[in-house]
Amino acid sequence: MCYTEQNRRPEVRVSLKIRTLHVHAPVRLKLAVCADFHSVNRPMPVDRALELLRSARPDLILFPGDIFSDTGSAGVGECFNKNGLELMRGAAGIAPCFFSPGNHEMGLSADNRRVLEAVGIRVLDNEFVRAGALTIGGLSSGYLRAKSRYETPPVPDTDFPARFAAEEGYHILLCHRPGYWKSFVAGRGIELTAAGHAHGGQWRIFGRGIFAPGQGLFPKYADGLYREGREVLAVSRGMTNSVRWIPRFFNPCEILMLALEPEGSP
Ligand SMILES: [Fe+2]
Repeated sequence: MCYTEQNRRPEVRVSLKIRTLHVHAPVRLKLAVCADFHSVNRPMPVDRALELLRSARPDLILFPGDIFSDTGSAGVGECFNKNGLELMRGAAGIAPCFFSPGNHEMGLSADNRRVLEAVGIRVLDNEFVRAGALTIGGLSSGYLRAKSRYETPPVPDTDFPARFAAEEGYHILLCHRPGYWKSFVAGRGIELTAAGHAHGGQWRIFGRGIFAPGQGLFPKYADGLYREGREVLAVSRGMTNSVRWIPRFFNPCEILMLALEPEGSP
């Protein structure tokens, strides 16, 4: 087995909340965006997250990356751990779940993927799936193969967004890095993209984030909704403080709920 076989540590008390944003769409759906849990083998708010998810009653749960966390020295498969797996196993009992790897999951192995799929998670590694009127895809930050992400910057599959956009249906894309949206996604007719990675900008002052990985100071895409025409990017602030030694200010950890509803809905 490729995750650390130890009992899940006790819960840690954190300020984890639900935040709901409304998005116009031809379908009426409640999506839970669970990003940046950054699970490691220390106390993690797994039960709190599942309690919030149950209370929110989402139709679908989206995991756009960095659910697991490695520290840079882990080998392939070693970022996998019981906290993250228990979160995803519990979520799969609440609603259909979709997961796209983030930069911290570059070392996920094929065995890890099989374990996730066995607990009911649909892994979308530059793949898509049709679900009724929806087409749900995942543009990976990393790769499910042996590779040290610290040696080579992650490069996305730049052909994937066009392949995905060519499919019929209302497109929901999981894309961990919000910076990919402008570069590779926007302008193709992909109606909704769910991202994380920016951690809300870590500190928020006057409604703006201060710093985000990949975007630097005063990041453009750090939190909330961004629109280009009828295309929307939704960026979660993340579920935990991944930078433990730097507290977050005015930037609560969250499960982001996206309430999709037709224009003109009350
Ligand atoms: Fe990330």
